[in-house]
Amino acid sequence: MNFPDYRLRRLRKNPTLRAMVRETGLTVSDLILPLFVTHGKGVVRPIKSMPGHAQLSVDNLRKEMKEVAALGIPAVLLFGIPEHKDERGTSAHDPHGPVQEAIKAIKDKFPAVQVITDVCMCEYTSHGHCGIIKDGDVDNDSTLELLAREALSHVEAGADIVAPSDMMDGRVAAIRNALDDEGHGNIPIMSYAAKYASAFYGPFRDAAESTPKFGDRRSYQMDPGNTEEALREVALDIDEGADIVMVKPALPYLDVIRRVKVEFGYPTAAYNVSGEFSMIKAAAQAGWLDHDRAMMESLLSIRRAGADMIITYFAKEAARVMSKAG
Ligand code: PBG
Repeated sequence: MNFPDYRLRRLRKNPTLRAMVRETGLTVSDLILPLFVTHGKGVVRPIKSMPGHAQLSVDNLRKEMKEVAALGIPAVLLFGIPEHKDERGTSAHDPHGPVQEAIKAIKDKFPAVQVITDVCMCEYTSHGHCGIIKDGDVDNDSTLELLAREALSHVEAGADIVAPSDMMDGRVAAIRNALDDEGHGNIPIMSYAAKYASAFYGPFRDAAESTPKFGDRRSYQMDPGNTEEALREVALDIDEGADIVMVKPALPYLDVIRRVKVEFGYPTAAYNVSGEFSMIKAAAQAGWLDHDRAMMESLLSIRRAGADMIITYFAKEAARVMSKAG
């Protein structure tokens, strides 16, 4: 059937009809909120390029977590800013590091909220790279053991899910084996499977104090031109035992999210990264965009591409918009 017999505008007449034929939905249970946990006490250090976000010390997490729980946000993703950094990032597996202490504090008071931890070395190394440096580049195989130790220390502190973001080859298997050997066979791995070397991580690196001191991450993170390679990354991670696969960033890589979801049918996460967040904040502050509409449209587009869950700095604001709408 065709115009004038078929008219697509018939089903756009009013909000009720539009809601009835809407193909993709967004709900609060799709959202994961990243948090930056720092060492020390009484710290709330706002992150300038990410309005509404701050580095928090463990004692200041309670208020944030109350909001998260009240809004119905199912999970948080923790990043740590340690007191000491060294060449090998040894504080990453400190049982009393900020992330480990934060996990204990959160699970104690908010047991239902799923605590996911970012497993990477870049916040813990003095050079800011995601692994051990040998001959001017990150050495893959010697980094694996440190990542496995870090993941294990998070799980021992009570983490529900570990999320390796380093992009070393073989790290999912290394972490899976380390967890299984210690009796943690039921802890899922959310792997940053297709993580691109992206300019959109800019604000995050200030937030997590993880900017590399020399060079860049292009010898381990993916080249933005590649999709087939992303599928190989995902296939390998699934083979090694990943339970959830992630594409990162989200908005510039919606096509990759789509292909990953269609080809593997695995639980798929997308990371709506710091730069994607800050762009909307900046444009809204300048009066150039309607903040809430741009936020909700972006999140919906990530769901439409195929993501089952979205890690986003907008989680609280989006949850508020949805609770008003509902
Ligand atoms: C750690 C890590 C990064 C992000 C998440 N985990 C930074 C990076 O790889 O440089 C970026 C998150 C964001 O921009 O919101 N490797």
